[in-house]
Amino acid sequence: MSTTAIETTTFRCIEWADETVKLIDQTRLPTEEVWLELHDYRDVIEAIKSLRVRGAPAIGVAGAYALVLAAQEFVNEPDFTHRLSISADEIADARPTGANLAWAIRRMTALVQSIDSPKQVIEKLTAESLLIQREDEEANRRIGQFGADLLSNGSSVLTHCNTGALATGGYGTAFGVIHTAWSQGKVKHVYATETRPLLQGARLTAWELVRAGIDTTLLPDSAAGMIMCQGIIHAVITGADRIAANGDTANKIGTYTLAVLAKEQGIPFYIAAPTTTIDMSLPSGEQIVIEQRNPDEVTHLRGSRIAAAGVSVYNAAFDVTPAELIAGIITERGVSKKPHTKSLKTLMERADG
Ligand code: MRU
Repeated sequence: MSTTAIETTTFRCIEWADETVKLIDQTRLPTEEVWLELHDYRDVIEAIKSLRVRGAPAIGVAGAYALVLAAQEFVNEPDFTHRLSISADEIADARPTGANLAWAIRRMTALVQSIDSPKQVIEKLTAESLLIQREDEEANRRIGQFGADLLSNGSSVLTHCNTGALATGGYGTAFGVIHTAWSQGKVKHVYATETRPLLQGARLTAWELVRAGIDTTLLPDSAAGMIMCQGIIHAVITGADRIAANGDTANKIGTYTLAVLAKEQGIPFYIAAPTTTIDMSLPSGEQIVIEQRNPDEVTHLRGSRIAAAGVSVYNAAFDVTPAELIAGIITERGVSKKPHTKSLKTLMERADG
């Protein structure tokens, strides 16, 4: 493995260091690599909302660190627990679709005991937030192995949006599968979609793939059908933001289109995600809240208007792919196969490891 590849596999987009949150500002990539140091939990909320940090698992990690910042801020307040609880709600509400943010805040707040002193709470929360990031990275490495086992030697895969270290606690979900399979010689080429409107594929996935030394072709989202009908794509692999109990999966807008095209062309369509993205409280994708984002993201590019003034805009950030279109949901506990309702239940009841 080359030096570049090793750096790529250890890269983290967010870290807790010197009692602050350090994160790479993803809105500036790939042209500038700017690291931010955030001392106020409200700035982390802003970073989540504006996609400086994004990707469901990475948002979960950011939310956990934000809660530690809140605890530090309120340490001398008489109503410490109350203020911490309000900030926890504010953080959890920063973005609605990705399951990992609310999951991480629930996991963190469950640790707060009324008998603990504020300093004890800070110690507990700090340890837990670091654990959340470490566990996510470890889960991704297992996902990478399970996913690589599904691919044949010399495969070309198509992926959408960004699922690498930039979107997670480390290593990546669908990106982790691609990276593991590439290092085993199973993936020989990657096709990455641009991912309109915010170009996470062109800006972020292409950046990560090039850094990892993986042969990559970037394509406009609208070229996916053309590429797939040429018989050169052996699998489509994407990440997930929230997976319902029946396997219906919310992921970046455009994923559903790719799954339908894959079915038409007889190409297996896989989702890769940690079990922390699975929401067993939702029976199906119909209950998943889909984030609607600012119309400017569609009408403007890097601050310049590209659409006719006055036009109305549809800017749902995610769509839902029905479970029956998904050949496998690759998790750190194994691969869910159809019927996903039964398979996911078994996976979720199984202990890690
Ligand atoms: O809106 P974003 O950039 O936060 O979207 C999240 C994603 O990058 C994807 O939907 C991804 O597949 C899930 S997170 C690994």
